Amino acid sequence: MEIDGAVRLVVGATPDALKACIATHIATAARSAIAHRGRYILALSGGSMPHTLTGLITVPGVDWARVFILFTDERCVPLDHEDSNYNACNSAFLNKLPIPVGNILTIDNSQGTAEAIAQDYEKRLMALLAVHGALSIDTVLLGIGPDGHTASLFPGHALLCETKKMVAGITDSPKPPPERITLTYPALRAAQEVVFIAVGVAKASLFKEALCFSTSSMDGPREKAEYAEAADCSLMTATIRENLPFPAFQVRPASGELWYYTDREGASFLPAHGLSQNQTEKMGTGFL
Ligand code: 6PG
Repeated sequence: MEIDGAVRLVVGATPDALKACIATHIATAARSAIAHRGRYILALSGGSMPHTLTGLITVPGVDWARVFILFTDERCVPLDHEDSNYNACNSAFLNKLPIPVGNILTIDNSQGTAEAIAQDYEKRLMALLAVHGALSIDTVLLGIGPDGHTASLFPGHALLCETKKMVAGITDSPKPPPERITLTYPALRAAQEVVFIAVGVAKASLFKEALCFSTSSMDGPREKAEYAEAADCSLMTATIRENLPFPAFQVRPASGELWYYTDREGASFLPAHGLSQNQTEKMGTGFL
């Protein structure tokens, strides 16, 4: 649950610490979903994300045969194309995990248009959820583009007004390639939890504009802090400012948790006084 509108921001002290922390987060969510519901449904994105998920390869105790994978967005290209999000995830880590091929929901590019591919994907996504008695995806992993887009939901685009479709086609993506499918706000917001992974200095100005910290929120509730602390990362809480023009910050789960993972560069916006002594020590003197 969100804490009084607060969200959690985890900052990795090093790239390896961040990867370990993200892997621990996902593995913990997977173990819990499998223990309670017999399966775990995880949605992946593209961009730089696949390389931040390689910690999953060595994470212990996940029954991968019960994990189902789908994509928050996908480019309408063959699955072995260099632009394919599936291909990027597969070569980075999926092909090293014992996930049955049938558990990975890829697009069927033979459907033709982006809209036809999206409709087919929505049908198969809904069937997957129904078979497993799931109301929604367990964990949605999203990136944030420099313009504040997420999945293939771009600022000012008509798709931001979609209220019925769970998956939609887009033929004018400003980020190439132009033809894609994307999960819509309704599908993303219904997730049990939404986890953003946004690294690099380009993200710092977006975070600065979007997130609001106060001394009291820094000392706020810290359940699941073990994700961060075990992996040498720092956890803090923040709130999101209203009326932002960035789709990424409009994805707030209706009843689930919202997390942001970033690195030192992405967190370079943080005011020095906002970090506790412990956090500052973890980040080292070069952090701020
Ligand atoms: C895509 C991605 C896209 C990505 C962001 C962030 O298919 O293009 O799903 O939404 O997550 O553009 O990309 P970076 O992580 O590379 O900044």
